[in-house]
Amino acid sequence: METCETVVAMWRLRASWPGRVALVPTMGALHAGHMALVAEARARAEHVVVSIFVNPTQFGDPKDLAAYPKTLEADRLMLEQAGVDALFLPPVAEMYPEGDETVVEVTRLSGLYHGAVRPGHFRGVSTVVLRLLNIVGPDVAMFGEKDYQQLAVIRRMVRDLFVPVEIVGVPTLREADGLAMSSRNVRLSPADRAAAVVLGRALDRAEAMVRDGSTLEEMVAAIRETVEAEPRASLRGLDVVDAESFRPVVRHLTGRAGIMISAEFGGVLLIDQREIDPPRPGTLPQPRDADTDTDAAPREETP
Ligand code: PAJ
Repeated sequence: METCETVVAMWRLRASWPGRVALVPTMGALHAGHMALVAEARARAEHVVVSIFVNPTQFGDPKDLAAYPKTLEADRLMLEQAGVDALFLPPVAEMYPEGDETVVEVTRLSGLYHGAVRPGHFRGVSTVVLRLLNIVGPDVAMFGEKDYQQLAVIRRMVRDLFVPVEIVGVPTLREADGLAMSSRNVRLSPADRAAAVVLGRALDRAEAMVRDGSTLEEMVAAIRETVEAEPRASLRGLDVVDAESFRPVVRHLTGRAGIMISAEFGGVLLIDQREIDPPRPGTLPQPRDADTDTDAAPREETP
């Protein structure tokens, strides 16, 4: 595996490759979730580049940036074993040269949901991702569905700016107990690590309710109730958005939608997401006792 630390070295290496190139942008501290993106990249291109860059412009809190885990030697080993062709590992001054003043902002979407809680975060993400795409020039780039809004922001940017790259979303990889894999999980205390399963569990419950015909209101109330029943969790965000437009779903679930959830556990902010596809009208499950009184008039509720 080659390592490129400068833009020029990366440009040269990319230019020497005849076949399709895939890029997997990361901030390092790699885990199996990242490696699922690498495997998908391998399947779609002859050459795979992984970038590791802890992007300062997407962190609001300098303490959060400083606390971001760094495991470069272990990362390198994992990438080599996965058959990655190149590691792009730029220092901050290479990605943000002195005097730079251009940013990219997906204006509406970046200020909503997680973006409302972390002002400037998605501007930092879109700015660094466009720079990475311009440096590596991949045919395809992989992003995790776990960061659901990030994926939507990048898709929007690529469409709006005619960036000639295909964006592929990869399903969330989870621990055996359902916790979404994340570089932040190592910062959880054992008690918070155990409590954090509540996010996956709340989403499982929501998904099952939607399948059984529950309303938006009932589903949101159930998620809230599940998370709030865990004393170590502080719910920070809960949004249901249309999967296509990313506009909030406010009244009824009518089509494919994404549930985005974020919660803090002992000062560590975790996020999770689930896409749901509510049953279309006419395909709603039948009431369980439907066979006993099919022709009967609607029954009165007994108080
Ligand atoms: P990072 O958090 O390192 O994640 C890199 C990529 O891995 C992202 O696309 C993320 O969605 C994906 N990922 C993380 N956990 C995953 C899991 N459990 N299953 C599947 N995919 C997972 O996201 C970033 O870095 C940065 O914002 C970045 C895009 C690199 C820009 O700085």
